[in-house]
Amino acid sequence: MEAETTTIDRYGVMGYPVAHSRSPVIHRMFALQTGQQLQYELLEVKPENLETAVRQFQRTGGKGLNVTAPHKQTVRKLCDHVSERAHVAGAVNTVSLNNGDMHGDNTDGIGLLRDLAVNLGLNLDGANILILGAGGATRGIVGPLLDMEPASLRIANRTLGRAQNIVEHFNDRGTITSCQFNAIPVNEPYDLIINATSAGVKGEAPPYPAAAVRPETFCYDLSYGLNPTPFSAWAREQGAEHSVMGWGMLVEQAAESFNIWRGVMPDTAPVLKQMSVNV
Ligand code: ATR
Repeated sequence: MEAETTTIDRYGVMGYPVAHSRSPVIHRMFALQTGQQLQYELLEVKPENLETAVRQFQRTGGKGLNVTAPHKQTVRKLCDHVSERAHVAGAVNTVSLNNGDMHGDNTDGIGLLRDLAVNLGLNLDGANILILGAGGATRGIVGPLLDMEPASLRIANRTLGRAQNIVEHFNDRGTITSCQFNAIPVNEPYDLIINATSAGVKGEAPPYPAAAVRPETFCYDLSYGLNPTPFSAWAREQGAEHSVMGWGMLVEQAAESFNIWRGVMPDTAPVLKQMSVNV
């Protein structure tokens, strides 16, 4: 990363790899829509260079960062302070840099909820929810999902211990349980199944729980692509009437970051329409 001198406020997304990220396109659309002057860069940073890269971005006048895999947990430790939701998630996806001060936040959970509740019209009050996966993505969404007061939330993961850790963390917040994929109770009807594993992205196929899907089960993949992701295609094959990829979450979490940095909430609908159709 080269030091730059510019009067335009600089933002960027750090990840490894990061070339596939749609964040620059989204934030440029937000800036255009709201009349904000800013530039937004793709910053490919290896894990061992993260701290140096963040400090350099800060020193050279950078105003804010989005942080994506695999840096979300590490960057939290670099922040001077973090929001309650980032603390609970144990992960940061949005960094604000002001006069040498570094603040961390996490907009993933609110982004997912906005997509589910506002864009897709789901009511999660009293719902039975199953999350597949127990990594950083799951940590970001469990707290906000529990805020919606579902009847139950089960986390299934290949490695049971990781799911158990998350359950312990949120135990006092509601009916939350963990298990491995092959132990998902098949007689429990799920209103919502969220795929938060990175299996599809890696071209792997975990033993998704076919028996847990009914026609009315809403299936949501945090991953997204121009073609159906392996999970969303699988859910359709099981007969789910609603199988949705995470484009909406992507745009909504970006809007929340934009609002944190610029104090202006963009209108996400036109951006989401353009993203999922044209990008
Ligand atoms: P992220 O930040 O995207 O959540 P992560 O922390 O590496 O990334 O977590 C990836 C999740 O996908 C984990 O739940 C992982 O399961 P393990 O905890 O057992 O590793 C899950 N995952 C990845 N590849 C998988 C596969 N082939 N089958 C099942 N689960 C998989």
